[in-house]
Amino acid sequence: MRKHGEADPLSFLLLSLLLILLPFVSSCSGSHAHMPRLRRLVQEDHDADDSSFPNSRLRDAYIALQAWKLAILSDPMNLTGNWVGPAVCNYTGVFCSPLPSDPSLTVVAGVDLNHGDLAGYLPHQLGLLPDLALLHINSNRFCGTLPRSLRRLALLHELDVSNNRLAGPFPDVVLRLPSLRYLDLRINEFEGAVPPELFDRDLDAIFLNHNRFAFDIPDNLGNSPVSVVVLANNRFHGCLPASLANMSRTLNEIILMNNGLSSCFPPEIGLLRSLTVLDVSFNRLVGPLPNVGGMLSLEQLDVAHNLLSGGIPASICGLPRLKNFTYSYNFFTGEPPQCFAVQTFDDRHNCLADRPKQRSERQSVTSSTFSATAVASSTPSATAVATSTFSAAAVASSTVASPSTSVTASTFCTTAAVLYTISVTAVASLLRTISVASRLLQSAPSPAPSPLYDEPLPAIVGISYTSPPPPVF
Ligand SMILES: *[C@@H]1O[C@H](CO)[C@@H](O)[C@H](O)[C@H]1NC(C)=O
Ligand SMILES: *[C@@H]1O[C@H](CO)[C@@H](O)[C@H](O)[C@H]1NC(C)=O
Ligand SMILES: *[C@@H]1O[C@H](CO)[C@@H](O)[C@H](O)[C@H]1NC(C)=O
Ligand SMILES: *[C@@H]1O[C@H](CO)[C@@H](O)[C@H](O)[C@H]1NC(C)=O
Repeated sequence: MRKHGEADPLSFLLLSLLLILLPFVSSCSGSHAHMPRLRRLVQEDHDADDSSFPNSRLRDAYIALQAWKLAILSDPMNLTGNWVGPAVCNYTGVFCSPLPSDPSLTVVAGVDLNHGDLAGYLPHQLGLLPDLALLHINSNRFCGTLPRSLRRLALLHELDVSNNRLAGPFPDVVLRLPSLRYLDLRINEFEGAVPPELFDRDLDAIFLNHNRFAFDIPDNLGNSPVSVVVLANNRFHGCLPASLANMSRTLNEIILMNNGLSSCFPPEIGLLRSLTVLDVSFNRLVGPLPNVGGMLSLEQLDVAHNLLSGGIPASICGLPRLKNFTYSYNFFTGEPPQCFAVQTFDDRHNCLADRPKQRSERQSVTSSTFSATAVASSTPSATAVATSTFSAAAVASSTVASPSTSVTASTFCTTAAVLYTISVTAVASLLRTISVASRLLQSAPSPAPSPLYDEPLPAIVGISYTSPPPPVF
């Protein structure tokens, strides 16, 4: 018991915290260095331990939350205004519950500061919340990265840090969380490679969209038991691996739009019989659309804005649940009548005879005027591709032909098929040419690619996540 007039140990603790943390408050990184000092301080403070907190876990939570409050530089909604004193379970956004392994202990089981507009960083002391099952900080302005100390959160089930300003390499600490099922890193500024190990983890949902990740989609993607994987709007490359076939019982949605995926669309994708949403729009997929007749659950299929050619397989348009098939902005030359029976379909800007709004001569003259210099400057090598004589021979030899100022779309439609048929045989020397061609195609005025995938995703089968739908801008 404290006597009246003595220094309040909590005030002392808070003051000490302030002194320890102030040098780091303005940075986005926090510091490892003050962690041991802080712990020593707390251990020495028996009074605070014994009299103010029901148990030592709540005392640790107090340290963690006070450290976090100090790391928050802007709190326009005053969410942390009541983060004062030992009653951490009464703090806004903090949720306590009995510890599953020892129900006599009340612990901090969840922190939900979604849509808080908070700015600051995530301090290492968050590792002092080892009983957290849920950490939601969606739609704030946290910068820096996830502290390594989060690896102590052995019960963490849902981690939603989406729509913040987190940066740096993929936060490997998420791979060390044994209970994690829901990982949402979307709409941040993480960059570099994603460790393939991610797809070996027992996760239900992976959201990595709208970051700066760049890597080849690894072959072990198919090991992942996820029901939802959203990789849209990054710079993933390479092929969709054939291991996709192993996701046939679990995968419900895969969103790969706007990533620069090229050349590979493995036939195994047709085996994903639980898949309801497949979006590979705004990539550089070439060649024919594989027969995906086995995707019996498919409702939404979007392959728009690629370099696909050939005929649409009738089995796709005949899929029993297909409601919305978007295949505009490709080079398809054939469309079976079943496609007109799909509830919503979009076949614009292809090479389909007798269909409206196809790539047309008139449209091309008004829309695609390429100067030879623009073409040349768009290639990293000295080799430029003639735009007027887009013949297979010119493409194959990759030589400079006579400069031209315009391209007709009808030429595109005939030669595109030749071009992409060759490309499917994967002649390495053609790949550069194809990327030139696709850049040319992309530079034609077209509806701006939708930069965001805002559609709320359908409920994840069998799991009710408490995370809100993606933020809408
Ligand atoms: C923030 O909330 C605290 C506690 O609820 C209150 O005392 C304080 O006056 C509030 N501050 C502002 C700026 O509204
Ligand atoms: C926490 O909130 C509960 C319920 O509102 C209240 O009864 C209790 O006194 C509060 N505890 C403190 C220390 O403020
Ligand atoms: C699917 O998994 C099995 C066993 O886990 C493996 O042997 C097989 O190669 C995988 N299939 C593909 C296409 O990767
Ligand atoms: C169909 O899908 C496209 C692209 O995925 C989307 O823009 C459109 O709104 C959808 N239409 C309907 C009616 O769901």
